[in-house]
Amino acid sequence: MTELIKERMPKHVAIIMDGNGRWAKKRGVPRLAGHRAGMEAMKKAVNHSDALGIKYLTVYAFSTENWKRSMEEVSGIFKLLVTFVNRDLRELIDNNVKVKVLGDYSSIPDASLKALEKTIEDTKDNTGLQFNIALNYGGRDEIRRAVEAIGERCANGEIAPEDITEELIGSYMWTGSEHADAPDPELIIRTSGEYRLSNFLLWQSAYSEFVFSDVLWPDFTDEEYDRCIADYQSRERRFGGR
Ligand code: IPE
Ligand code: IPE
Ligand code: MG
Repeated sequence: MTELIKERMPKHVAIIMDGNGRWAKKRGVPRLAGHRAGMEAMKKAVNHSDALGIKYLTVYAFSTENWKRSMEEVSGIFKLLVTFVNRDLRELIDNNVKVKVLGDYSSIPDASLKALEKTIEDTKDNTGLQFNIALNYGGRDEIRRAVEAIGERCANGEIAPEDITEELIGSYMWTGSEHADAPDPELIIRTSGEYRLSNFLLWQSAYSEFVFSDVLWPDFTDEEYDRCIADYQSRERRFGGR
């Protein structure tokens, strides 16, 4: 068992859940079976984050680039998401979890959209773990949207260019005060042995610690999660100071 230091638990953990396809390939099953197993791993990660006293969990579920995949895979992923929110909603509410979506998910299929909106609405007053699902999310897209919105406010004279502070820019991110209202993640985990951000939380990751796990996402257990947090807790964070 991995010993964790309670006082040094990150407030916000973000996870790039990668490796569903390779997990399926290893077993000779369809990619969608990998995504289904990935949903189960995601559910476990929600429960374990809650048990550890983490306040915010953000998972990368679908990127703005993932539309490049086959229609079959894309629509399958969204169907699985509906199954997840419908089947597990009651449990999320009972566990006091608040669900938010990061990203413009208005373009996802209608059934998925409705199920998600219901979940967001039904959990909005919950005060426990905040579970952010990054869906149709892209870091550059997020920054572009912020620039557009701030540009509009400048153009109509509401604010002057010199009023554009880092705080103001941050408030226009999906994690900003107007939307999910979450602090920057102290820890970003990526599974499946890939060492890149793939357009995830570009603005918010300025001083995040990165932990890479070789485990394929569907095989990600509570024990592996603990090991990632222990790795984070062994780091010295300096923020540019000495
Ligand atoms: C991550 O698993 C899930 C999504 C990107 C939706 P992948 O589907 O990327 O799995 P690999 O990388 O092909 O193994
Ligand atoms: C990142 O994984 C996106 C999600 C986990 C949703 P990808 O599998 O899409 O990233 P690349 O293509 O390997 O960079
Ligand atoms: Mg991948």
